[in-house]
Amino acid sequence: MVNLSESTQTKITEHKTVLVTGGAGYIGSHTVLELLEQGYDVVVVDNLCNSQIESLNRVQEITKRQLFFYEASINDADRLHAIFQQHTIDAVIHFAGLKAVKESISQPLEYYKTNVEGTRTLLEVMVHHGCNNIVFSSSATVYGNVDSPTIKEDHPVGPINPYGQTKLTAEYLIHDVCTAHPNFNAALLRYFNPIGAHASGLIGEDPTSPPNNLLPCVTRAMIHRDQPLRVFGTSYNTRDGTAVRDFIHVVDLAQGHLAALRKLFKGAPGCVVYNMGNGRGYSVKEIISKMENVTGVSVPRIDADPRPGDAVSVIADPSLAFEQLQWQPKLGVDEMCRSAWKWQSQNPQGYRLKGKDMPKKLQHRPHQHFSSFPSRH
Ligand code: UD1
Repeated sequence: MVNLSESTQTKITEHKTVLVTGGAGYIGSHTVLELLEQGYDVVVVDNLCNSQIESLNRVQEITKRQLFFYEASINDADRLHAIFQQHTIDAVIHFAGLKAVKESISQPLEYYKTNVEGTRTLLEVMVHHGCNNIVFSSSATVYGNVDSPTIKEDHPVGPINPYGQTKLTAEYLIHDVCTAHPNFNAALLRYFNPIGAHASGLIGEDPTSPPNNLLPCVTRAMIHRDQPLRVFGTSYNTRDGTAVRDFIHVVDLAQGHLAALRKLFKGAPGCVVYNMGNGRGYSVKEIISKMENVTGVSVPRIDADPRPGDAVSVIADPSLAFEQLQWQPKLGVDEMCRSAWKWQSQNPQGYRLKGKDMPKKLQHRPHQHFSSFPSRH
């Protein structure tokens, strides 16, 4: 990895270059991988507050390509300016942000600082350097309480927690920048429920604090069998009493970002919004059964009360993205479960492997700053 400070003097301009904020995280690392495989040059900016640099080592391992990495916060305008001076950035994919709903209720200032002020700082630097394309990592959480069987992009928004408020505020901010700067283009991608992992089993979801989302809780229960999955709510008005979600494979989602990027480069569409989902719902119990079927491992579980703030059923209408981005998810729920388990069972401690437990190829991976540039394709 070319792990850089901004002091290097040569300006790097040869290829289309995408800056990925939060590129070491779960969805970020899968997207960086797709970008590298498609021939883009990639600059990652990540402060590693909820991610491990090892994810990017592994991305390089899989793609046999190098990327540029800066350990920096999106709130640090000086660092961002220096990075934009160093590289000619054609587009930004902006993942960096805080995303735990419960934490956002107890720490709203942190959430607004990172998710809103950080986005504002990034946009200011982009405008200053004439970088006019951004793909933004938003969430179906902006819709808040939903009352329709499927959700279109024009469904009223109304987030019900600070995390959702910050995502929606960042969307408004980006929209307003597009209005003020007619050359500025943005794709706001509202994710439904991303799960799964890369087929290699080398990268996957690795929350640094105890997980809240369903799939990491399922796989944790499969490994730590004395910590059963709590099934939150078993008497909802659904086909089996458990809540229903629109799960999307993280690799399909990553490819959705590249489709959005192509739209910005080709069409200069201004500000566009797309749901990123499959358009199909699976219940919590159905996911558990799928997981047990594809792995042959049972999921220890207990019934529990509904989790406060949870919706009964959240399913995308993703037809706009299918039409306008020529993108469609390819991987089904079996593959989502199989790959999530492959990742988790091969990496029970996530990326935190040490010494002899670490696969040979990944040992002695240098994390210090490099002075050379990567070879180019
Ligand atoms: C949650 C967040 C949402 C965020 C999304 C992706 C809440 C209320 N919503 O959505 O804002 O954008 O994650 O990060 O937190 N479940 C269990 N047992 C568990 C964990 C989850 O039964 O241990 C159930 C939940 O109650 C829910 C379903 O699984 O019904 C999916 O949960 P989760 O993966 O947390 O996603 P969302 O609630 O859809």
